[in-house]
Amino acid sequence: MLRQIHSLPGLIAALLVAMLALTGAILSVQPALERFAAPSVVMGTISVAALAEAARAQHAEIDKITKTASGSVVVSYFDNDKAGADLLDPATGRVIGPVAPSATIRFITNLHRSLLLGTAGRVAAGLGALAMVVLTITGAMMLAARMGGWTGLLKPIRGNARQRWHAQAGRLAIVGLLLTALTGCFLSLTSFELIPDGSADPVATASGRGGERASVGSLAALKAIDLADLRELAFPYAADPTDTFRLTTAAGVTQIDAATGEALSFQPHSTARQIYEMIYMLHTGQGLWPLGLLLGLSALAAPIFAVTGAMIWWQRRRSRPRIADNRPASAAGTIILVGSEGNSTWGFARTLHAALTQAGHKVHVAPMNALAPAYPKAVRMLILTATYGDGTAPASASGFLARLDRSALKLPVAVLGFGDRSFPRFCRFAEDVGTALAEKGWPALIEIDRIDRQSAQSFALWGERLGIALGHALALAHVAERPPTTALELVKRVDYGADVQAPTAILTFRLPGAGAGRPLWERLFSASLPPFEAGDLVGILPPGSTVPRYYSLASSAREGIVEICVRKQPGGLCSGFLNDLPLGGRIDGFIKANPAFRPNAKATPLILIGAGAGIAPLMGFLRANRSHREAHLYWGGRSPQSDFLYREDLAICMADGRLTALNAAFSRAPHGGYVQDRLTTDEQHLAALLQRGAQIMVCGGRDMAGGVSQAIDAILAPMGLSTFALKASGLYLEDVY
Ligand SMILES: Cc1cc2nc3c(=O)[nH]c(=O)nc-3n(C[C@H](O)[C@H](O)[C@H](O)COP(=O)(O)OP(=O)(O)OC[C@H]3O[C@@H](n4cnc5c(N)ncnc54)[C@H](O)[C@@H]3O)c2cc1C
Ligand SMILES: Cc1cc2nc3c(=O)[nH]c(=O)nc-3n(C[C@H](O)[C@H](O)[C@H](O)COP(=O)(O)O)c2cc1C
Repeated sequence: MLRQIHSLPGLIAALLVAMLALTGAILSVQPALERFAAPSVVMGTISVAALAEAARAQHAEIDKITKTASGSVVVSYFDNDKAGADLLDPATGRVIGPVAPSATIRFITNLHRSLLLGTAGRVAAGLGALAMVVLTITGAMMLAARMGGWTGLLKPIRGNARQRWHAQAGRLAIVGLLLTALTGCFLSLTSFELIPDGSADPVATASGRGGERASVGSLAALKAIDLADLRELAFPYAADPTDTFRLTTAAGVTQIDAATGEALSFQPHSTARQIYEMIYMLHTGQGLWPLGLLLGLSALAAPIFAVTGAMIWWQRRRSRPRIADNRPASAAGTIILVGSEGNSTWGFARTLHAALTQAGHKVHVAPMNALAPAYPKAVRMLILTATYGDGTAPASASGFLARLDRSALKLPVAVLGFGDRSFPRFCRFAEDVGTALAEKGWPALIEIDRIDRQSAQSFALWGERLGIALGHALALAHVAERPPTTALELVKRVDYGADVQAPTAILTFRLPGAGAGRPLWERLFSASLPPFEAGDLVGILPPGSTVPRYYSLASSAREGIVEICVRKQPGGLCSGFLNDLPLGGRIDGFIKANPAFRPNAKATPLILIGAGAGIAPLMGFLRANRSHREAHLYWGGRSPQSDFLYREDLAICMADGRLTALNAAFSRAPHGGYVQDRLTTDEQHLAALLQRGAQIMVCGGRDMAGGVSQAIDAILAPMGLSTFALKASGLYLEDVY
């Protein structure tokens, strides 16, 4: 819901808000420019009476003298019935020159206030300000939810470039934008007189006694007022002998007898006026130029939001699978909710939807995060969900349990988990969902079931059980949709580890026919690699399987190669295929971004830890370390003679400063050990690096990662820290399998 509220007005208002923000940002510089252009008024140097006297000497008939919020003093006059305005030197009252308002600033001000469209434009600008309030608040709430609460708002932001820019700009600009948007709404409401601004307050009229007017410089009530306190002094009409001087200060309006200089009446500003003036100042920064600049800078974030927000929305729309003949939630008898990260579970949901629809059911499919407060026609719910991370929810189900908590629904339900038995928490999220539903009293349609590695056979068996519960046969013949892949050709391979029963290969692929020798036209018009960075994943479909296996990338797309390191698993389908692949052999692969596993941009030390094939992304980070950020590599293998992966490349990185220190541990060498043993030996050095804010990145097998986190926890404990705390602040990243 929060996301819908955030993205819908965001998309509609993106252009409007961007226009208001850009014009606002330009106008925000104005108070600072005026402030520096205007000679400054120094407290106690000149009275209003003296200034008015000096002005009077230069103009026959004065309408008023105004001191603007930025400090400049302007006299408006009629000379021979010709109106004009001059800038006065506040120290002497002497005319500096005529006031020449910039046509550009006037144009931008009109564009900002009414989009040059009169009343309709003012309404649109007001709605733009309202949209900005909604966007800022919902955006802040979403960011807080994503960062694990309001206290997490200062933590490093994860995600792809679009998401990081969107959230980063939001974090920096939130206070300024909220202030601008709220004050903008207020000003808009006052301009339509829906809120009083005090300008229509009745002013008590007092008449002077008449008689000959004294010189303005001699009027006692004006002599008592310092120029620093002046806002406006309106002169009496020459033709009306009883008309008075009207002096406006921050406190209120005083009427002064033009003949005697006596103060006849004082009317303080109403609360409405005071509030209006304060809000006007907060919105424009007039009279507070540093605030103006700050608001302007915040406003510049709005176009960044508009562009990155539209990109995020489009990406999300595009990646959402289409379901043919999907019924609306309000009309469906069967609701299927899907929890998925990599989209394969959507494929199973589509097969289930088609089979149930064919059997005459009215079926609605939606992400788990879209759990509605009510489904008027529903008689059952089917939940299909994957598990991610370390037994947690996939992206499209991240808010499901919280929603369920607030929900009053209760439908017969069947939960089907999708996972991988090689993860220790097999289908844990599906189990958590099943438990939460049972606790809320949802009756089970059939018992929870779990599917390993997207097995179509297990899915068909589950379909049979569901069919029995529904009272009719249900044949679920699922054929996994192949993700769009690119053909890649093996151009180089280096084999290691055969002597120590750990066959591992570094494999380099290119697009077929790519490389230096090709004509330019061919290179320009042929397929190119999608963008990726070291640490992202390549998904590879082994022959005879529709389930991809993932390998961490040691290269980036800029290098024009796809380089991975593959450890051959006993009986392993894909790793076996890759380890036997001859030069020139082809694979079908696709890129899967892994933005959560990237070094942060800080200049603090980097501690890279891995074992076996886990070195691949770490090697990629080192190759890209052109800024020579301090980098320490801890890596474990079996034997220095047989499986010292990337030995030469690491030596080159050491020599040119991209790698600061290499600590290799070999389990089958004399006095050998595992990588975690090396960490423990180096305890003091690591503690010093961690004190300096080092970031740790771990890649490789699950057992190694467990041993490493235990060793690091022991080093962190005396500092009152833990790997858990470092993980929460993005300083401990894992890519384990
Ligand atoms: C994010 C991520 C990054 C990864 N990065 C890398 C990397 O950089 N390098 C790397 O080498 N690997 C990496 N992997 C692991 C890789 O994706 C594969 O899982 C690995 O190569 C094994 O795949 P396989 O097809 O060879 O084995 P599979 O055929 O999938 O089998 C895996 C193991 O299970 C056993 N097995 C298979 N079927 C059964 C069964 N029915 N019953 C019992 N046992 C069975 C096999 O004998 C084998 O030991 C990564 C994994 C992930 C998730
Ligand atoms: C990075 C990663 C982490 C995973 N973590 C788990 C896990 O903790 N438990 C589990 O059972 N499966 C885990 N899996 C396996 C997925 O749940 C499984 O492949 C699922 O079918 C993916 O469905 P999806 O493509 O719809 O997201 C993980 C997969 C990946 C790539």
